[in-house]
Amino acid sequence: MKLTSRSVSRAVLVSAVVTATASAAVLVATTSANAATTLGASAAQSGRYFGTAVAANKLGDATYVGILNREFDMVTAENEMKMDATEPQQGQFSYGNADRIVNHARSRGMKVRGHALAWHSQQPGWMQNMSGTALRNAMLNHVTQVATYYRGKIHSWDVVNEAFADGGTGARRDSNLQRTGNDWIEAAFRAARAADPGAKLCYNDYNTDNWSHAKTQGVYRMVQDFKARGVPIDCVGFQAHFNSGNPVPSNYHTTLQNFANLGVDVQITELDIEGSGSTQAQQYQGVVQACLAVTRCTGITVWGIRDSDSWRASGTPLLFDSSGNKKAAYNSVLSALNNGTQPTGTTQPTTTTQPTNPGGSCTATYAEGQKWSDRFNGQVTVTGASNWVVTVTLSSPQKVIATWNTTATWDSSGTVMTARPNGNGNVFGFTVQHNGNWNWPSLSCRTG
Ligand code: G3I
Repeated sequence: MKLTSRSVSRAVLVSAVVTATASAAVLVATTSANAATTLGASAAQSGRYFGTAVAANKLGDATYVGILNREFDMVTAENEMKMDATEPQQGQFSYGNADRIVNHARSRGMKVRGHALAWHSQQPGWMQNMSGTALRNAMLNHVTQVATYYRGKIHSWDVVNEAFADGGTGARRDSNLQRTGNDWIEAAFRAARAADPGAKLCYNDYNTDNWSHAKTQGVYRMVQDFKARGVPIDCVGFQAHFNSGNPVPSNYHTTLQNFANLGVDVQITELDIEGSGSTQAQQYQGVVQACLAVTRCTGITVWGIRDSDSWRASGTPLLFDSSGNKKAAYNSVLSALNNGTQPTGTTQPTTTTQPTNPGGSCTATYAEGQKWSDRFNGQVTVTGASNWVVTVTLSSPQKVIATWNTTATWDSSGTVMTARPNGNGNVFGFTVQHNGNWNWPSLSCRTG
């Protein structure tokens, strides 16, 4: 059963009674009694998967395998399915390490993302020196052979990886493959479809998370063109390698939704976020919430298990520390996955404001209103004094984009709205552009 936060009952949850002088409000977080306790199980509640990159040479590490088997239900080979690994000599295919990963996963009911059939990087030496028709044919033969070998075992293939240039052009990356002709990508997709009609076929790239970036727009135009011309593409992978110089963009949800609107699934394929503590945890939470808010965002894969397993270990970018302990980022991801999907009949976990002085002069009560993919409505009913002042506090990066039946002002951050009567009674409302964060606002009421 697929339930999103859109299907949560319209329960009235937040009731705030605070006097004009009260300041020490107590925040109480409630949790769902039915919350799942692993990443895979919590993602599965909304029909999504939660995966990780796996290295074959770590499958003998008991801590590593213990976490893998407990937490994840999708696996990507970190290097073992790349062109240099699977076809080290032209026409001679080598699947030993890839098979170890695929067999480990499938024997335990995990799915497999194939990574990657065609890429300018990690080409075998013999291919690096090829060009023209010979290279095009060698690439297509590689796609056909590898996808045929794994036919029926792969959930999604990264058919083409990282084919767009960084920077402001939105153009293709120069490479030996690109120089065989601009149609090399669609030719690879057609070969992959013919070889394994059951696998979802993805285009995968990095630095495509920010909707306003030229590279994102370039990939978007290619996918739009492919869909218009019937090129067999089913999904777009967003690698999602983040750090302080490349943070999670506030428009991430917009990016995922716009691609999904082209008629493809979107997947977060190599997620890691450098940092630590609550800052890192909040960024992970934002990424998960952005995916959950997009119906066609079908799963999330992190690029490794422990920080020490990461391709950039010094940035401690993963969900488990080097000893295999769960980090704050793990807890925020699990919580976000559980909050995004509510078992029928339960209320959404939220934050309530405890009255510090019951008997105050006004009460503000929040009711959930209509929801859309990018925004939701809230309604506030005020009882008590008619000269009420209600403070509505949003969670960044949410923004109020409309109000009714109130006169409102905002603080400099734009997340704290002060609402006063405008002569239209004591029920007012507002629309929140959630930007990937579905948390409900908190309220307090005073007179003034
Ligand atoms: O296994 C050899 C080892 O025998 C040798 O001694 C050592 C010396 O350099 O190299 C080892 O191979 C390294 C391999 O990782 C396994 O650890 C390669 O040098 C190294 O280049 C390779 O890096 C991989 C990188 O892709 C190559 O581009 C990373 O593990 C892998 O995480 C990374 O993954 C990519 C995705 O495929 C695409 N998106 C970006 C992502 C991160 O760069």
